[in-house]
Amino acid sequence: MTQAIRPDTITTSRLVLEPLELRHATQVTRFCRLWEVAQYTANIPHPYPAGCAESFAKDAASERESGGGWVYAVTLADGGEVIGVIDITLCDKDRSGELGYAFAPWSWGNGYASEAARALIGFAFRVLRLDKIEACVMVENEASQRLLARIGMRQVDERMMPAPAREREVLCRVFQVFWSQVRT
Ligand SMILES: CC(C)(COP(=O)(O)OP(=O)(O)OC[C@H]1O[C@@H](n2cnc3c(N)ncnc32)[C@H](O)[C@@H]1OP(=O)(O)O)[C@@H](O)C(=O)NCCC(=O)NCCS
Repeated sequence: MTQAIRPDTITTSRLVLEPLELRHATQVTRFCRLWEVAQYTANIPHPYPAGCAESFAKDAASERESGGGWVYAVTLADGGEVIGVIDITLCDKDRSGELGYAFAPWSWGNGYASEAARALIGFAFRVLRLDKIEACVMVENEASQRLLARIGMRQVDERMMPAPAREREVLCRVFQVFWSQVRT
């Protein structure tokens, strides 16, 4: 449903979200290999194997081509450093998408993740024309739950989800926001 849309760069006041490519892999590895980042994610293994960021970038390009997902490197507008990755994976069944993100610890606490998430949700609703965005957060991940609340998402459910870095499933809270709730 989204195949014809180009994966445009998304800009905010302090950030540039660039479609993830191989050239970002070295900087992405710097934070994805850290336990404090991987422990809360649904797709970052720990230890982080050599070549993992490169595979992630290649898969991201395929997903963009097929219209199945949109993965961005979050870079600082001032200087271009890659401080995070953020993505929306589209669900086949309905016009919904799942939001995911991970940021470098040295960038935390500055509102960057909230700024990037708001921008990507805007893109998903207005450009991809999705009706619903969902995100799953581990119950102990306070920062991410605050972030989702801050950008207008509401908890609707709890479920067990895989946590590859922990090699087990963990209890997660499911957050949602609908286009009908945010359009003006
Ligand atoms: C979750 C994460 C993206 C937040 O990044 P960030 O850039 O610090 O986020 P923001 O600065 O936009 O802050 C979002 C909220 O989290 C709060 N926060 C930040 N660090 C926190 C911490 N260590 N403990 C509790 N709250 C924290 C902020 O105060 C803010 O809440 P507020 O609006 O009520 O003040 C980052 O901590 C991260 O990448 N963690 C590891 C990977 C991860 O958890 N991914 C998400 C999986 S669902």
